[in-house]
Amino acid sequence: MGAEASEETPAWVNGGVTSDTSPATPANVNGGIEEGHGPGRRFRGSALRPTRRGPRKPPPQPVPTPSMPPFDRAPVWRRGEHAAEPARAAYAERVQIDVFTLFPHWFDWFRGQRHVANAFALGSRLECVDYRAHTPLSAGQVDDTPFGGGAGMVLRVDVVEAALRARYGDDPVAVRERRRVVALTPGGRVLDDAYVSELAREERLTLLCGRYEGFDERIVEHFCSDQLSIGRYVLAGGELAAMVVCDAVLRKLPGALGHEESAHEESFSAALDGAPEYPHYTRPAEWRGWKVPDVLLSGHHARIREWRAQQSRARAQRAGSSPGERAQQSGRASLP
Ligand code: ADE
Repeated sequence: MGAEASEETPAWVNGGVTSDTSPATPANVNGGIEEGHGPGRRFRGSALRPTRRGPRKPPPQPVPTPSMPPFDRAPVWRRGEHAAEPARAAYAERVQIDVFTLFPHWFDWFRGQRHVANAFALGSRLECVDYRAHTPLSAGQVDDTPFGGGAGMVLRVDVVEAALRARYGDDPVAVRERRRVVALTPGGRVLDDAYVSELAREERLTLLCGRYEGFDERIVEHFCSDQLSIGRYVLAGGELAAMVVCDAVLRKLPGALGHEESAHEESFSAALDGAPEYPHYTRPAEWRGWKVPDVLLSGHHARIREWRAQQSRARAQRAGSSPGERAQQSGRASLP
C-alpha cells in the first residue's frame, strides 16, 4: 500500500493540483495510508462491500458480481440497502475529493459556493489533479486517436496512470481497492439520490473526468470502481458532471446546509420513499387571490405531515412512478 502524496502538498501541486484552503486532515495523513481494503472487487457501493474504517458497516461478504451493473438500475444486491438504516445514519462526517481533470481552474468557482465552502470549513476537501501536469509524453499530450478509426480523441491510459500514481504513490489498480475511483461517463450508472447517498458515506472519493471521446477503456476497466453518468446525454467532458456529484454529495454531509432537516426530507430521499418533495409556500398567505392551503396555516403538525405525504405521493403518481418502481430505480427498498 503506497503513501498518498496529497497531504504533504508536494512539489507537483502547482504544476498539477489545485486545492481548497481547508487545512490538511491529519487523520488521513497517517503516512498516507488508507486502511482496511479487502480483496478486490471492481464495482462497489453495496452494504455488503468491504469496509475501510470503523464499525459502522457490516463485515465483508462475497459479492457475486464480476461485471458492470446494468446502466439504469442498481444491481439486485444493492436493493434494500437503505431499508434498515435511519435516513441520516451513514454519511461521512467529511469527505476528501480528488478530481482529475484537464481544467482544474473550472472548479475555482465551484469552491466558492456557500454550501461547498461550509463543507470545507467542516473539514471536507476538494483538490484537482491536472492530467497534463503528469503526462509522461514529451509534447504534453494527454489523448490520442482511437485504434480502429473514428472521430475524436481518447484519453490515454498511460497519462491517467501517471496522474493517479503521482497522487497516490501506488499502482492505480490497487488504489481502487481502498477508495472509490469514479469515471464520469455518459453510459455509466445514472446518478440518483440512492447513489448520492452511497457516495456520501465515503470518506474519500476520486473522480476522473473524461474529455473528447472519453476514456481508453482500460482506464475504466482497471483503475475505476464506478462509472457514473449524470444523465443520458453527452457533455463535452466530465467536469460539469463532477461538480454535480460534488454538489450532491457535499450537501448531504452534516452541517453543509446549516439546517439539518433540509437534506433529510427532500425530493427522492428515503424519508419521502423516493418521491418528489411536497410543495412549499411562504408569505404572503394570499397573493392575487392565490391562497396557501389552509392546512399549512392551521398549526396542526400531524395534519400537515399527512397533507405533505399525500402531496408527495400525488406528485410521484403524476410523474408516473409507484413506490415499488422508485425503489427499483434507486436501489432502495420500498418503505411501507
Ligand atoms: N461526460 C460526458 N457526458 C457525461 C454525462 N452525461 N455524465 C457523466 N459524465 C459525462
